[in-house]
Order: sequence, then C-alpha cells, then structure tokens
Amino acid sequence: MTILDAFRLDGRVALITGAARGLGWEIATALAETGAHVLLNGRTAERIQPRVDALRARGLSADAAPFDMADRNGMEQAVRAALASRSIDILINNVGERDRRALDDLSTDDFERLIDVDLNAAFALAKLVLPGMLDRRAGRIIMVTSIAADLATPRSASYIAAKGGLAALVRAMAAETGVHGVTCNAIAPGFFMTETNEAMFNSPAGTRWRERVPMRRFAEPREIAGAALFLASDAASYVNGHTLVVDGGVSATFMMP
Ligand SMILES: NC(=O)c1ccc[n+]([C@@H]2O[C@H](COP(=O)([O-])OP(=O)(O)OC[C@H]3O[C@@H](n4cnc5c(N)ncnc54)[C@H](OP(=O)(O)O)[C@@H]3O)[C@@H](O)[C@H]2O)c1
Repeated sequence: MTILDAFRLDGRVALITGAARGLGWEIATALAETGAHVLLNGRTAERIQPRVDALRARGLSADAAPFDMADRNGMEQAVRAALASRSIDILINNVGERDRRALDDLSTDDFERLIDVDLNAAFALAKLVLPGMLDRRAGRIIMVTSIAADLATPRSASYIAAKGGLAALVRAMAAETGVHGVTCNAIAPGFFMTETNEAMFNSPAGTRWRERVPMRRFAEPREIAGAALFLASDAASYVNGHTLVVDGGVSATFMMP
C-alpha cells in the first residue's frame, strides 16, 4: 500500500451529520470522492436528497439519513435502519448549532437546549455506532468542534461550553476505544465561509475578524474537509484523542489589528 492508498476509503461507510450544506457537505463530498459510501444527514429529506442525487450523478455512492439531532428517537430509528443494511465505519459529527445571545438574555433552558443538540446528541449518536465498530475492531469517530472551545468570544456561552465538552469527550472516548482499534478525534476549524454566516462575515465585524487571521482570509469549507479525510483514513491510524486545529494560524498568534 502506498501512502496515497492509505488516504482512500474504498469499502468504508461514513455517516456525516449536517451534510446538506457548509462543511458537512464538503466533508461528505471528499469522503465519497475517495471511495466511501456516504450517509448524508440533515433535518429533512427534502434538503438532503438533492445532495445525494448530485453525488450519485458523479458516480459516487450515497444515501440520505435524515434526522434531527434534537430528536433521539428519530436518530435511533434512522441509524438502526442504516445499520440494518450496512455497518458504519466512520462517524463525522459535524452539526453544531449556535446561539449568539449574551449571558443576560440566555436562559438556562436555552443553554440546556444547545448543549443537548451540540454535545449530548453527539454522544448519543456515537453510542449508536460504537458497538459495531468495537466488534469489528475498527472505526473512526470525528467530532467537529471549533477554536471557540479554547478561545472564547462574547455572546456564545452555550456554544463554547458545548464545543469544549466535545473536545474533552473525544479525549475521554479515545482513552477507552483505542485498545479496540477505534480512534476518536476532533477537528477544530477557525472561521470558514458558509451560507449561514456569509452576511456576518461580509459585515464590518467580519472585516475585523479577517484582520485577526494571519492569512487575512476566511477558509473555504473545502479547506477543512481534507482534515476530516485524513482523520477518517488509514493515514491517521495512530492519531487518537487529538484535536486537529485548521484555522489559518488564528490560535497560534496574537494579531494586533
Ligand atoms: N462556520 C464557521 O466559521 C465555523 C467555525 C468553527 C466551527 N464551525 C463548526 O463547523 C460545523 C459546521 O458548520 P457550518 O457553518 O458548515 O454549518 P451550516 O452551514 O450552518 O450547516 C448546517 C448543517 O447542519 C444541519 N443541521 C443543523 N441543525 C441540525 C440538527 N439539529 N439536526 C440535524 N442537522 C442539523 C443543517 O441541515 P438543515 O438542512 O436541516 O438545516 C445543515 O446541513 C459546526 O459544528 C460548527 O459549529 C463552524
């Protein structure tokens, strides 16, 4: 096997949450392009199916796995249905909702709801796919966190707490699963441009954020997807419990505007 072969995912099945757009879509595309059968998740079949069709039109292998991360019954049904026909070798937990309210405006209910979707649901999903991975003594669990887990900003307390929890969860899971051949890692992106944040990144505040990046630009989602491919592949067979930061140097520097 050459080192390039080690990056291929032929015969693997990958479930990617939040794959209708943004980073999840780019990760799903990258994994499908390298040979994986990808299960695309999003809240509704209507938004996911066109993406599945687009991959199939390119001769790639994909199915839809719609469910809302907030709905545990729906999640369990969808994952068990998928597992009935194929094993899941790779889980990319990419969904990360955000609540930009200040502490004063953030109720404990609001806080709990976001922690539930961004952190608790990620654990619940990992629990559904882990038994098969442990049986096969092979698997990859990858959580998408954020540099916000370590670098706090105002008006994001629940998001920052959830991402910090996910980073810690990855280390805790890695400590138990490594001996069974299953690795658990995280990707911590910096700023990248998606439909969801386009308006904010194009505002004066976005210009100030851009000045904070040593590369003076936001990433394209595609530039983060390679990190997911690496962690999902045999090329990362000895990477476990790691958070791979992909932020253009933001967290390594203290940039004066
Ligand atoms: N953008 C950034 O600058 C940035 C920086 C650091 C980290 N991140 C992290 O990167 C990840 C992806 O961010 P993104 O900007 O690519 O997101 P995005 O463009 O907002 O995409 C969101 C995707 O997640 C799905 N989704 C949202 N809530 C869901 C739920 N409860 N259940 C199932 N699917 C759900 C959406 O599906 P629907 O079609 O159902 O809406 C959509 O496919 C997140 O974890 C985020 O925290 C982003």
